[in-house]
Order: sequence, then structure tokens, then C-alpha cells
Amino acid sequence: MTATTPQGTRRSDAARDHLWMHFTRHSAYENGGEAPVIVRGDGAYIWDAAGRRYLDGLAGLFTVQVGHGRTELAEAAARQAGELAFFPLWSYAHPGAIDLAERLAGYAPGDLNRVFFTTGGGEAVESAWKLAKQYWKLVGRPTKHKVISRAVAYHGTPQGALSITGIPAAKEAFEPLVPGAFKVPNTNHYRAPEHLRDDAKAFGRWAADRIEEAILFEGPETVAAVFLEPVQNSGGCFPPPPGYFDRVREICDTYDVLLVSDEVICAFGRIGSMFACDDFSYVPDIITCAKGLTSGYSPLGAMIASDRLFEPFRAGSTSFSHGYTFGGHPVSTAVAMANLDIFEREGLNDHVKQNAPAFRATLEKLLDLPIVGDVRGEGYFYGIELVKDKATRETFDDDESERLLRGFLSKALFDAGLYCRADDRGDPVVQLAPPLIIGQPEFDEIEGILRSVLSEAWNHL
Ligand SMILES: Cc1ncc(COP(=O)(O)O)c(C=O)c1O
Repeated sequence: MTATTPQGTRRSDAARDHLWMHFTRHSAYENGGEAPVIVRGDGAYIWDAAGRRYLDGLAGLFTVQVGHGRTELAEAAARQAGELAFFPLWSYAHPGAIDLAERLAGYAPGDLNRVFFTTGGGEAVESAWKLAKQYWKLVGRPTKHKVISRAVAYHGTPQGALSITGIPAAKEAFEPLVPGAFKVPNTNHYRAPEHLRDDAKAFGRWAADRIEEAILFEGPETVAAVFLEPVQNSGGCFPPPPGYFDRVREICDTYDVLLVSDEVICAFGRIGSMFACDDFSYVPDIITCAKGLTSGYSPLGAMIASDRLFEPFRAGSTSFSHGYTFGGHPVSTAVAMANLDIFEREGLNDHVKQNAPAFRATLEKLLDLPIVGDVRGEGYFYGIELVKDKATRETFDDDESERLLRGFLSKALFDAGLYCRADDRGDPVVQLAPPLIIGQPEFDEIEGILRSVLSEAWNHL
């Protein structure tokens, strides 16, 4: 890979001058820093333009489940593009979308049999809210339009999905957003109210009951849906406490509120099953998914709805007036089919289930460091919360967080050969979601790099 563009510009200079990177502070590059340019991937590793190798501890962005460099996925894409590069799903169908819809309906629990394709996760969330609103109108309950989601949760950037997102700083610049989105506490057990810290079940009950409280505050006849991730990513991996989803399902049934399982990160083996609602034994009304569906080899998302939600669309002149040119793109659906073939052939979900305890145990070794307050997560999905004082669980103030995460950690981890994420959208955490193919040697490599960098981080406060 040459280090210059076809026009002869140094790539990092052209990146600085022309590329608008997502969620990126460009000042870092304006002031002499160089954007890392990633040029190649193989298995669990990626390489930058200078030839340096990194362990991909985040599967790109919670996406590359089967690992990098799978030529069979590239070949599936090429085959499909040669045969039928593009056709929309607007009143027409193509074999890839049909076959994948049938396959996803087979993996999904209960009667979630109807698959609406998008190009990514935010569009799937957006579609789910729109479906919930239209569904309630069609069944004669037109005032049910509001949604409930959890503090610090991320659900995407379209304006509806951003309303559902529970991160005030991510929304501020774009207010006013779509009205009618309300927030409840998440399941951060480490930060649970003091009297519930030693009783996970009681904490789960308390957190689920906050959803009921919000429904009652707003009035059940105004609430359309609750959006929850099986394991909440933002804030640093909050698994559901025991009994949480049983109680949420009960509340949703009591008040006729749809339960949307936002599995944009958690589906496709991240927790160990195709859909993570199965990992926690609940059946939602809608699943939203994306990312691992194609392992990122081509963009694709989906909203999977129950038969009940599709019922009013079966007859007459009714339609879901919603769609995307590239939703269910033929190349992406072909790649998704080939990706899921790899899952089944290589038993990736079983691999995750078998190896997750060892991954967790390896990361938990880090709890001997003074800066590591909590290690939490499920499957191949972990958050490591950093604290100033372990005994009191005191967190860092904004300045310290800035110095620690942005000033030191992100770059130091990368320089040490680990691509992962240091995030302060909630309390400061390091997030890990590697490709699902890794085992003990890579767990040890991750732990080793984190140990040396986190030990040094302490000196940067
Ligand atoms: C839970 C969840 N929902 C929605 C999204 C948005 O997905 P996308 O970036 O594909 O639009 C994300 C992205 O990370 C996510 O984690």
C-alpha cells in the first residue's frame, strides 16, 4: 500500500484536509497529530500504513465477528455484484433478501418472523420506533407514541434514534430532537443505589420497576415502546441483573407497551447466541440488529418484528411508508448469508460460550491494579471501569477524565498494540469486543497490554 493518494498527497495530509471523520475532534489532526490509517486486516489483527500490527480488541466497532481477511466473504460479494449488483426492496424482492429474511426469522425467538432491512443499526432503531407508532395507530390506539429507554444508552444518530439515546452530550447540538422519548436508570450494578449493591436480584427488580414508573408517569395510553439493549454498551457493559428482563416483559405486557431488543451490538454471537434475548431468556416484540450480521464486510441492518405487528399490514391499502434505497442491498445480503455460514461451520457461538469464562477470568486479573474498579460484561463483550479510589468507587472529574482518557490512554493502548476504546460517555471505561475467533493467547495479550498501560496511567493523573 503506497503512502500517497492517487494525486500524490501524503495520505495523512489528505485525511486532515478532506476527510470528515465521525465523532472526531479534528483539532488533534489540525495541531500536528496524524490520523491512524489502517490498511489491512487478518484474523484478529489489523495493520497500519507504517506496517505496525495491532490486536483488534473492538472488532472494528463491535462488528467484525468472524475476523478480518475472510476471502470467502469478499468472493460472495463479488459473485453477487456480478450477477445482480443492485435492486431495491420497494415492491420487488431479490433472492438474497428473501433467503436472509427466512434465515433470520428462523434464528429469532417466538413469532418474530418479519424482517425489514436497513443499511445499519441507527436506521433499524429509527424503523422500530416508526413501526411502533404506526402499529398502535392501525389498531385503534393512536395516542401510544412515546418511547422509554435507559440513561447513557446509545441507539444511533438519526434524529429519532438520537432521541432514544440517553447521552445528553451527544444530543445537545441537535436539539430539539423528536419529542416523546423518556429515560429510566440503566443496570449499572457497580453504581447501584447503596442498599441494592449486594443484592443483584433486588437491584434488577428496582431497575425494571423504574420502567413501570415511567409508563405510569406518562400514562400507558401514550407509551408505544421500550428500547433496551440486552447488555448496555455505553457506560461500559451493563449486563441485566437476574430477573430484570422477566420483570420488563411482565411490565410491557401489563401496559401494552412493545419491547424492542436493540441488539445492534449484542446479536450474532457477541454474547454467545445468534440473538442475545435468547442468552437472557426473553422474547421481545422487535429485534434491531446490524454490525455482526455481515461481520462488517458490507453494510446491513435489520428490524425483525413479530407476526402480531405485521398483521395490520397484511390487508387492504395499508403499507409501512418507510424505506431506504440501500436497505437489504443484494451484495450485503449475500455477504450476510456467507457470514452466517461461517458462524455455523466453525461453531462460533459455541466457541464464545466455551471461552467467555476464561476471557472474563483473564481480564479480572486486572482487578489487582489500583485504577481498575470493575470488570463486567458477558460473552466476548467487556467493560473495565477505571476509578480514582477503589474503596469509595470515586470516579475522575472531567479534567482528570480528559487527561487520562484522551490525553493518555487511547493513544498509549494503540501504541502498545491494542486497538480498543477508552470511553467517558458514562464513567471512564475501557471497552473490549474482539472478533469471536480469539482464544487464550489473545486474552493474555490483551491483559498484558492493559496491565502495562493502566499501571502507567496512574502516573498521569
Ligand atoms: C445499541 C446500538 N444501537 C444502534 C446503533 C447505531 O448503529 P449504526 O452506527 O449502524 O447506525 C449502535 C451503534 O453502535 C448501537 O450500539
